Amino acid sequence: MADEHEHDHPEQDETAEQRVVGELPDVSKGTARPITVFGNPVLHREVATVTAFDGELAALVDDMFVSMYAADGVGLAANQIGVDLKVFVYDCPDDEGVRHVGHVVNPVLEELPAGRRALDDSAEGCLSVPTAYMELARPDFAAVTGQDKDGNPIRVEGTGFFARCLQHETDHLYGYLYIDRLSKRDRKDALRQMSEGTPKYATVPND
Ligand code: NI
Repeated sequence: MADEHEHDHPEQDETAEQRVVGELPDVSKGTARPITVFGNPVLHREVATVTAFDGELAALVDDMFVSMYAADGVGLAANQIGVDLKVFVYDCPDDEGVRHVGHVVNPVLEELPAGRRALDDSAEGCLSVPTAYMELARPDFAAVTGQDKDGNPIRVEGTGFFARCLQHETDHLYGYLYIDRLSKRDRKDALRQMSEGTPKYATVPND
């Protein structure tokens, strides 16, 4: 997911005392890879379930963190660097100023109880739809279950902007971009914004 408030990016905020939930990655281990964009088939279908929890998976997670930071994103799914596996990474603030950092393998979004279905209609963006932002109503709470890179079961939950991130990244791995959840008119507007802008990071050209 793209950060619509680049100046608020936690990495650039030197004044706030920020609580961090999760483990910061060792960015010296990974390599930045270019980002796939709207139209690339790997973004528009469900990707494969991870079955091998090995060094290759750990290296993928390292590359995904570095790729996400290089593009100034707050979340990244594996198919956004062209990899056909269900993995996402995040480094994303919630609305209480807590910074959430981590990765989820084979994420499944939990069904929300009726009492937790309040919608938030903030703006959303995606590194794979560069330079476009649109408001999209989503539940302001989300919980995802899955595994870590060693295969241990995990559950991640969050509110506000981080809840949006969890939903957005899980969607990616099932072949959906946020623009697929917009009205026809807003979707067209987002694609127009993308066609008029130039991404500030390396992208994979579409054929
Ligand atoms: Ni995205």
